[in-house]
Amino acid sequence: MKKSVNDFYKMKREKQQVAWITAYDYPTASFAEQAGMDMILVGDSLGMVVLGYKGTIPVTMEDCISHCQAVRRGAPNTWVIGDLPFGSYQLSDQQAVESAVRFLKEADVDCIKLEGGVRVRSRIKAIAEAGILVMGHIGLTPQSSGVLGGFKAQGRDVGSARGVIEDALAVEEAGAFSILVEAVPPNLTKFLTEKLSIPVYSIGAGPADGQLIISGDMLGKFQAFTPKFVKKYANVAEVETNAFREYVREVREGLFPTADHVYNALDSDEDFAKLFQEYK
Ligand code: KIV
Repeated sequence: MKKSVNDFYKMKREKQQVAWITAYDYPTASFAEQAGMDMILVGDSLGMVVLGYKGTIPVTMEDCISHCQAVRRGAPNTWVIGDLPFGSYQLSDQQAVESAVRFLKEADVDCIKLEGGVRVRSRIKAIAEAGILVMGHIGLTPQSSGVLGGFKAQGRDVGSARGVIEDALAVEEAGAFSILVEAVPPNLTKFLTEKLSIPVYSIGAGPADGQLIISGDMLGKFQAFTPKFVKKYANVAEVETNAFREYVREVREGLFPTADHVYNALDSDEDFAKLFQEYK
């Protein structure tokens, strides 16, 4: 059965871990649901993992919504999170609410996520007041990697950690139902997990109320780079490449297709011979 927001609060209270991944397509979403995943994020990381961009900035609302729709079809009974892409909430609170509404109406997501803390406080408040569940995302925020000087861990010194704490407090106070903390030291994540009453989830930030991992990373599909915090559970790139290589070889050597891979004719060879004769 699909979880509700109350289940996630209960899991925090009862110290049960939430396991979630990113997914961008129907088959991955369906495998995730079959595996018992608690949540699925259709992250704008799809720009890098699926669309081959160098970062997340070029990703559009249309990209995100179309991938959310595929994921929802693959995982009808799993909590799905839509990720507001760069440019869909930066302009105004109204733009943020309009973008969030589109995710709910067009892609049937359960909540939306957006990046930033203090600076997006009013956006989170506006979306929450529109009756939409919002997840905050602080620490390393990939859409601002230019401003952060790259995909760099955050909160590693006291000054930077103070900024992360201020962001977390702002996100909770603005009405987010949960918060994702990316690439900060585990002592800071532990502090936030104990301090905040909303669930705190981690990606590359050590133990918290639950863990997120990028499916392309953990499956070994994304090859441009692998962040330090990733654990590879499979090497799908190798499996796929080997399968493709084998197929190429068999086609070239006339080993595929064989009699097992064809639809046999229903009429006799003589009937077909007459047909071919007509067209000679
Ligand atoms: O887009 C995404 O997948 C994300 C993760 C990096 C947290 O936002």
